[in-house]
Amino acid sequence: MEKQIKDFTDEEMLNEATRILTEGFTLYYDQQFTMGELVEYCGRIGSTDDDMLGYMQFNPEEHPDISIVSPKPDMLLGHCDLEWHSNGTVHHVVDGVWEHKEWLICLYCVDYCPDTVLSVSNNRDAFLELPEEEKQWWRGVEVQLNNNGGSIMGQYWNPPNKSDAAKTARMEKYVQAPKHEGDSRMPVVNTHPIGGQEFLYWQPPLISKAWHNGERIDIKPLQKKFDAVINRTKYIKDIVFRPGDILIMDQFYTLHRRSPILDKNRELWRVAIDYKHTIDK
Ligand SMILES: [Fe+2]
Repeated sequence: MEKQIKDFTDEEMLNEATRILTEGFTLYYDQQFTMGELVEYCGRIGSTDDDMLGYMQFNPEEHPDISIVSPKPDMLLGHCDLEWHSNGTVHHVVDGVWEHKEWLICLYCVDYCPDTVLSVSNNRDAFLELPEEEKQWWRGVEVQLNNNGGSIMGQYWNPPNKSDAAKTARMEKYVQAPKHEGDSRMPVVNTHPIGGQEFLYWQPPLISKAWHNGERIDIKPLQKKFDAVINRTKYIKDIVFRPGDILIMDQFYTLHRRSPILDKNRELWRVAIDYKHTIDK
């Protein structure tokens, strides 16, 4: 039987948190977790109290720090494909303002769909391995991020035969953050608050305005340029979850996307972990 990570000693746990930070994510197989054990395990890395979730229909009452990711009605994220993104781009209040937040996402597989692929891209390495001149160009780019309409839900989410009212109703469920407006913006090259390395932080579908060296620039060519950096086999790991698989990924150093879910039994348990004080505690 595989070593059970829930039995990690404190030293192994610290080693695990360091590995996530160095490699962007870790993945284990054949792990046996109850909901309570999963929350406890994640809690050893950092706080699992998500400021946006915990009271929704997909949070089990007994274990509100878990979100059920499933295509079943009213569960988190439905069945559609999800475009490249990281979790927590525009949804969190940090020091009183809407900001991104440094954290990890844990996904534990309970039931699976053999046709669904979750891809994780190491956007830190993709950036760090660019020629210096190109890195310098990116350091001048700033963007305004918003949940633009369907956002990461992609095109699949709103089939053309749906009425506008139905589309709006569905969208409203997911647009929770107030809009960034005017010149509100952030740089796309950021430094990881714990890891200290530079990385490209941004989700292509969320860009509503862009600047380079202070001048407004078009979004489309910028998105294309970003796509050329990020969409490279070398930096992407494709995962077809099987029961017992557990993935923990850094939301700054990695992006992820998912193909549509065909087998409606697929179920993951998701826990968000704030790991601000993990390495030095
Ligand atoms: Fe996500």
